Amino acid sequence: MDSWDALKTECSSCRACPLCEGRHNLVFGVGNEQADLMFIGEGPGEQEDLQGVPFVGPAGKLLDSMLEMIDLDRSMIYIANMVKCRPPNNRDPQGAEIAACRSWLDRQISLVDPKLIVCLGRISATALIREDFRITREHGRWFDLGSRRILATFHPSALLRDPSRRPEAFMDLREIRKEYRALKSSHNL
Ligand code: URA
Repeated sequence: MDSWDALKTECSSCRACPLCEGRHNLVFGVGNEQADLMFIGEGPGEQEDLQGVPFVGPAGKLLDSMLEMIDLDRSMIYIANMVKCRPPNNRDPQGAEIAACRSWLDRQISLVDPKLIVCLGRISATALIREDFRITREHGRWFDLGSRRILATFHPSALLRDPSRRPEAFMDLREIRKEYRALKSSHNL
């Protein structure tokens, strides 16, 4: 039986890929460890690396506002990244780095056991939904992932770079809220 303690201890000393060389802190994950809804980003940026917490820089501030728009906050969800150590100069994590880090994420998903997963951006969507997933065409739709449902939306950093995508992202958020509320009300039946 896996446990959070075992996972956190093992993960904290990970040296499975070269990203460990540059880290100040490994960025494990944060939030409600029993959440029904899990958000998965890409990898830590500068602030996340310094603080050891996901989504605390500019993209994190926007993520917090996005959550607030749909009546959620960090205490209700779990947040993790595909890679736990910061890629240099915020470049995209490479396939080998994502693969080396994958078992930590898979164990986090198993322990949280969320019913719903939201991919933030292309990197997590292509890793978790389909290799050729296209955010611009397929965002906002639910897919089956075993017993879970998974949806991808724009990464908050992409929305900071290109605010014209915000109305579409807002529609995705409404879809997430709808599904989350339906799930919660079915629990209460
Ligand atoms: N971008 C991500 O994908 N994850 C973070 O934790 C911060 C920025």
